[in-house]
Amino acid sequence: MPAPDALAKPVVDYAAAPEHVAVIMDGNGRWAAARGLPRSEGHRRGVAALRQAVRTAGELGIKVLTLYSFSAENWSRPAEEIDDLMALVKQFVREDLDELHRSGVCVRVIGDRSGLDPEIFRMICEAEELTRANDRLTLVVAFNYGGRQEIARAARHLAEQAAAGRLDPMSIDAAMVESQLDTAGLPDPSLVIRTSGEQRLSNFLLWQSAYAEFVFLPIHWPDFDRAAFELAIGEFHRRERRFGGLTARTGS
Ligand code: IPE
Ligand code: IPE
Ligand code: MG
Repeated sequence: MPAPDALAKPVVDYAAAPEHVAVIMDGNGRWAAARGLPRSEGHRRGVAALRQAVRTAGELGIKVLTLYSFSAENWSRPAEEIDDLMALVKQFVREDLDELHRSGVCVRVIGDRSGLDPEIFRMICEAEELTRANDRLTLVVAFNYGGRQEIARAARHLAEQAAAGRLDPMSIDAAMVESQLDTAGLPDPSLVIRTSGEQRLSNFLLWQSAYAEFVFLPIHWPDFDRAAFELAIGEFHRRERRFGGLTARTGS
Protein backbone atom coordinates (compact mmCIF):
# COMPACT_ATOMS: atom_id res chain seq x y z
CA MET A 1 0.00 0.00 0.00
CA PRO A 2 1.43 3.42 -0.87
CA ALA A 3 1.71 5.91 2.00
CA PRO A 4 -1.37 8.14 2.35
CA ASP A 5 0.53 11.26 1.32
CA ALA A 6 1.69 9.46 -1.85
CA LEU A 7 -1.98 8.86 -2.67
CA ALA A 8 -2.71 12.52 -2.14
CA LYS A 9 0.03 13.58 -4.57
CA PRO A 10 -1.32 15.05 -7.78
CA VAL A 11 -1.03 12.81 -10.83
CA VAL A 12 1.22 15.34 -12.46
CA ASP A 13 4.06 17.01 -10.64
CA TYR A 14 3.91 20.38 -12.38
CA ALA A 15 7.34 21.40 -11.13
CA ALA A 16 8.77 18.42 -12.98
CA ALA A 17 6.97 18.81 -16.29
CA PRO A 18 9.24 17.62 -19.11
CA GLU A 19 11.07 20.55 -20.64
CA HIS A 20 10.29 19.53 -24.21
CA VAL A 21 7.27 17.48 -25.26
CA ALA A 22 6.74 16.57 -28.91
CA VAL A 23 3.43 15.37 -30.28
CA ILE A 24 2.44 13.43 -33.38
CA MET A 25 -1.12 14.67 -33.80
CA ASP A 26 -2.61 11.67 -35.57
CA GLY A 27 -6.10 10.34 -36.18
CA ASN A 28 -8.09 13.33 -37.44
CA GLY A 29 -9.40 11.38 -40.44
CA ARG A 30 -10.44 8.36 -38.40
CA TRP A 31 -12.07 10.58 -35.79
CA ALA A 32 -14.22 12.06 -38.56
CA ALA A 33 -14.92 8.73 -40.29
CA ALA A 34 -16.15 7.23 -37.02
CA ARG A 35 -18.77 9.99 -36.93
CA GLY A 36 -19.74 9.86 -40.58
CA LEU A 37 -18.08 13.23 -41.15
CA PRO A 38 -15.68 14.30 -43.91
CA ARG A 39 -11.95 14.17 -43.11
CA SER A 40 -11.84 17.96 -43.35
CA GLU A 41 -14.07 18.14 -40.26
CA GLY A 42 -11.58 15.96 -38.41
CA HIS A 43 -8.81 18.38 -39.31
CA ARG A 44 -10.93 21.33 -38.21
CA ARG A 45 -11.52 19.68 -34.85
CA GLY A 46 -7.82 18.87 -34.76
CA VAL A 47 -7.01 22.57 -34.81
CA ALA A 48 -9.23 23.09 -31.76
CA ALA A 49 -7.34 20.32 -29.95
CA LEU A 50 -4.05 21.93 -30.98
CA ARG A 51 -5.13 25.25 -29.54
CA GLN A 52 -6.03 23.60 -26.26
CA ALA A 53 -2.76 21.61 -26.18
CA VAL A 54 -0.73 24.81 -26.49
CA ARG A 55 -2.65 26.40 -23.64
CA THR A 56 -2.26 23.30 -21.45
CA ALA A 57 1.46 23.02 -22.19
CA GLY A 58 1.95 26.56 -20.91
CA GLU A 59 -0.08 25.84 -17.80
CA LEU A 60 1.87 22.67 -17.08
CA GLY A 61 5.18 24.52 -17.25
CA ILE A 62 6.43 22.81 -20.40
CA LYS A 63 9.00 25.06 -22.06
CA VAL A 64 9.01 23.60 -25.57
CA LEU A 65 6.07 21.97 -27.35
CA THR A 66 6.69 20.55 -30.80
CA LEU A 67 3.67 19.64 -32.90
CA TYR A 68 3.85 17.53 -36.06
CA SER A 69 1.39 19.34 -38.29
CA PHE A 70 2.33 18.24 -41.82
CA SER A 71 4.95 15.73 -42.91
CA ALA A 72 7.11 15.81 -46.02
CA GLU A 73 5.22 12.67 -47.05
CA ASN A 74 1.74 14.15 -46.50
CA TRP A 75 1.93 15.73 -49.99
CA SER A 76 0.98 12.31 -51.30
CA ARG A 77 -2.60 12.80 -50.06
CA PRO A 78 -5.41 13.82 -52.43
CA ALA A 79 -5.20 17.46 -53.62
CA GLU A 80 -8.51 18.30 -51.97
CA GLU A 81 -7.27 17.24 -48.53
CA ILE A 82 -4.00 19.16 -49.01
CA ASP A 83 -6.03 22.25 -49.92
CA ASP A 84 -8.13 21.84 -46.77
CA LEU A 85 -5.02 21.48 -44.62
CA MET A 86 -3.27 24.49 -46.14
CA ALA A 87 -6.40 26.60 -45.69
CA LEU A 88 -6.50 25.57 -42.03
CA VAL A 89 -2.84 26.51 -41.53
CA LYS A 90 -3.48 29.97 -42.94
CA GLN A 91 -6.64 30.38 -40.90
CA PHE A 92 -4.84 29.30 -37.72
CA VAL A 93 -2.04 31.83 -38.19
CA ARG A 94 -4.53 34.60 -39.03
CA GLU A 95 -6.80 33.90 -36.07
CA ASP A 96 -4.36 32.77 -33.39
CA LEU A 97 -1.04 34.50 -33.91
CA ASP A 98 -1.88 37.65 -31.94
CA GLU A 99 -3.21 35.66 -29.01
CA LEU A 100 -0.14 33.39 -29.02
CA HIS A 101 2.06 36.48 -29.03
CA ARG A 102 0.14 38.09 -26.19
CA SER A 103 0.47 34.97 -24.07
CA GLY A 104 4.24 34.87 -24.47
CA VAL A 105 4.55 32.05 -27.00
CA CYS A 106 7.59 32.01 -29.27
CA VAL A 107 6.72 30.32 -32.59
CA ARG A 108 9.38 28.42 -34.48
CA VAL A 109 8.76 26.39 -37.61
CA ILE A 110 10.89 23.40 -38.60
CA GLY A 111 10.86 21.59 -41.93
CA ASP A 112 11.77 22.39 -45.52
CA ARG A 113 10.62 25.86 -46.55
CA SER A 114 11.78 25.66 -50.15
CA GLY A 115 8.91 25.42 -52.60
CA LEU A 116 6.19 26.28 -50.08
CA ASP A 117 3.13 28.31 -51.07
CA PRO A 118 4.47 31.91 -50.95
CA GLU A 119 1.67 33.05 -48.64
CA ILE A 120 2.42 30.29 -46.14
CA PHE A 121 6.14 31.03 -46.39
CA ARG A 122 5.47 34.69 -45.61
CA MET A 123 3.17 33.82 -42.70
CA ILE A 124 5.79 31.51 -41.18
CA CYS A 125 8.45 34.22 -41.35
CA GLU A 126 6.08 36.82 -39.87
CA ALA A 127 5.02 34.54 -37.02
CA GLU A 128 8.63 33.81 -36.12
CA GLU A 129 9.63 37.44 -36.38
CA LEU A 130 6.73 38.74 -34.27
CA THR A 131 7.20 36.22 -31.45
CA ARG A 132 10.99 35.89 -31.47
CA ALA A 133 11.55 37.50 -28.04
CA ASN A 134 8.80 35.58 -26.20
CA ASP A 135 9.95 33.03 -23.67
CA ARG A 136 7.00 31.56 -21.81
CA LEU A 137 6.64 28.63 -24.19
CA THR A 138 8.34 27.82 -27.47
CA LEU A 139 5.86 26.33 -29.91
CA VAL A 140 7.74 24.42 -32.57
CA VAL A 141 5.58 23.62 -35.57
CA ALA A 142 6.88 20.82 -37.77
CA PHE A 143 5.54 21.70 -41.21
CA ASN A 144 6.65 20.03 -44.45
CA TYR A 145 8.93 18.23 -42.04
CA GLY A 146 10.76 14.94 -42.38
CA GLY A 147 13.51 13.77 -40.04
CA ARG A 148 15.51 12.09 -42.80
CA GLN A 149 15.30 15.16 -45.03
CA GLU A 150 16.38 17.36 -42.11
CA ILE A 151 19.45 15.19 -41.43
CA ALA A 152 20.26 15.12 -45.17
CA ARG A 153 20.06 18.95 -45.31
CA ALA A 154 22.42 19.19 -42.34
CA ALA A 155 24.85 16.72 -43.97
CA ARG A 156 24.72 18.64 -47.25
CA HIS A 157 25.50 21.89 -45.49
CA LEU A 158 28.50 20.41 -43.69
CA ALA A 159 29.71 18.76 -46.92
CA GLU A 160 29.53 22.11 -48.72
CA GLN A 161 31.66 23.73 -46.04
CA ALA A 162 34.15 20.88 -46.14
CA ALA A 163 34.35 21.03 -49.94
CA ALA A 164 35.03 24.78 -49.71
CA GLY A 165 37.90 24.07 -47.31
CA ARG A 166 36.22 25.81 -44.40
CA LEU A 167 35.69 22.66 -42.34
CA ASP A 168 37.91 19.69 -41.51
CA PRO A 169 35.76 16.55 -42.05
CA MET A 170 37.52 14.95 -39.06
CA SER A 171 36.02 17.61 -36.80
CA ILE A 172 32.44 16.58 -37.60
CA ASP A 173 30.80 15.10 -34.52
CA ALA A 174 27.26 14.69 -33.22
CA ALA A 175 27.18 18.20 -31.74
CA MET A 176 28.17 19.69 -35.08
CA VAL A 177 25.48 17.78 -36.96
CA GLU A 178 22.99 18.87 -34.32
CA SER A 179 23.97 22.49 -34.82
CA GLN A 180 22.85 22.22 -38.46
CA LEU A 181 19.44 20.71 -37.73
CA ASP A 182 16.28 22.80 -37.87
CA THR A 183 16.00 22.34 -34.09
CA ALA A 184 19.47 23.76 -33.35
CA GLY A 185 19.55 25.31 -29.89
CA LEU A 186 16.45 23.50 -28.62
CA PRO A 187 16.64 20.76 -25.99
CA ASP A 188 15.84 17.24 -27.22
CA PRO A 189 12.28 16.10 -26.50
CA SER A 190 12.15 13.91 -23.43
CA LEU A 191 8.60 12.80 -24.21
CA VAL A 192 7.06 12.04 -27.60
CA ILE A 193 3.31 11.47 -27.59
CA ARG A 194 1.42 9.96 -30.53
CA THR A 195 -2.34 9.74 -30.65
CA SER A 196 -4.51 7.40 -32.77
CA GLY A 197 -3.01 4.14 -31.51
CA GLU A 198 -0.35 3.94 -34.22
CA GLN A 199 3.05 3.10 -32.79
CA ARG A 200 5.55 4.58 -35.23
CA LEU A 201 7.52 7.77 -35.73
CA SER A 202 6.51 8.50 -39.34
CA ASN A 203 9.79 10.39 -39.92
CA PHE A 204 9.35 12.69 -36.91
CA LEU A 205 12.39 14.03 -34.99
CA LEU A 206 14.49 10.94 -35.80
CA TRP A 207 17.73 12.43 -34.50
CA GLN A 208 16.30 14.38 -31.60
CA SER A 209 14.24 11.58 -30.07
CA ALA A 210 17.23 9.24 -29.60
CA TYR A 211 16.54 9.02 -25.85
CA ALA A 212 12.95 10.22 -25.72
CA GLU A 213 10.24 8.29 -23.92
CA PHE A 214 7.32 7.35 -26.18
CA VAL A 215 3.72 7.35 -25.07
CA PHE A 216 1.16 6.05 -27.56
CA LEU A 217 -2.40 7.00 -26.75
CA PRO A 218 -5.39 5.07 -28.12
CA ILE A 219 -7.45 8.23 -28.70
CA HIS A 220 -7.62 10.27 -31.91
CA TRP A 221 -6.12 13.74 -31.96
CA PRO A 222 -9.40 15.76 -31.82
CA ASP A 223 -10.12 14.03 -28.47
CA PHE A 224 -6.74 14.96 -26.98
CA ASP A 225 -7.58 17.11 -23.97
CA ARG A 226 -5.94 18.17 -20.74
CA ALA A 227 -6.68 14.82 -19.08
CA ALA A 228 -4.96 12.97 -21.93
CA PHE A 229 -1.98 15.33 -21.72
CA GLU A 230 -1.69 14.76 -17.96
CA LEU A 231 -2.01 11.02 -18.43
CA ALA A 232 0.88 10.99 -20.90
CA ILE A 233 3.05 13.05 -18.55
CA GLY A 234 2.13 10.79 -15.64
CA GLU A 235 3.26 7.79 -17.72
CA PHE A 236 6.48 9.62 -18.55
CA HIS A 237 7.22 10.06 -14.85
CA ARG A 238 6.82 6.33 -14.27
CA ARG A 239 9.54 5.49 -16.79
CA GLU A 240 13.08 4.75 -15.71
CA ARG A 241 15.48 6.59 -18.00
CA ARG A 242 19.02 5.25 -18.12
CA PHE A 243 20.65 6.94 -21.12
CA GLY A 244 22.89 3.94 -21.67
CA GLY A 245 24.02 3.71 -18.05
CA LEU A 246 23.00 1.22 -15.39
CA THR A 247 21.06 3.47 -13.09
CA ALA A 248 18.03 5.68 -13.50
CA ARG A 249 18.82 9.24 -14.36
CA THR A 250 16.41 12.06 -14.19
CA GLY A 251 16.22 14.03 -17.37
CA SER A 252 13.86 16.88 -17.93
C1 IPE B 1 -3.30 13.73 -38.62
O1 IPE B 1 -4.47 13.04 -38.88
C2 IPE B 1 -3.21 15.05 -39.34
C3 IPE B 1 -2.25 15.07 -40.45
C4 IPE B 1 -1.48 14.10 -40.83
C5 IPE B 1 -2.16 16.32 -41.20
P1 IPE B 1 -4.61 12.14 -40.17
O2 IPE B 1 -5.10 12.97 -41.30
O3 IPE B 1 -3.36 11.38 -40.44
O4 IPE B 1 -5.77 11.15 -39.73
P2 IPE B 1 -5.81 9.58 -39.93
O5 IPE B 1 -4.51 9.04 -39.40
O6 IPE B 1 -5.97 9.33 -41.39
O7 IPE B 1 -6.98 9.13 -39.12
C1 IPE C 1 2.17 11.67 -39.22
O1 IPE C 1 0.93 11.12 -39.43
C2 IPE C 1 2.21 13.09 -39.68
C3 IPE C 1 1.45 14.04 -38.89
C4 IPE C 1 0.78 13.77 -37.80
C5 IPE C 1 1.48 15.40 -39.36
P1 IPE C 1 0.57 10.31 -40.75
O2 IPE C 1 -0.87 9.98 -40.65
O3 IPE C 1 1.00 11.05 -41.96
O4 IPE C 1 1.49 9.01 -40.60
P2 IPE C 1 1.34 7.56 -41.23
O5 IPE C 1 1.15 7.73 -42.72
O6 IPE C 1 0.15 6.93 -40.59
O7 IPE C 1 2.60 6.86 -40.86
MG1 MG D 1 -2.62 9.61 -39.87
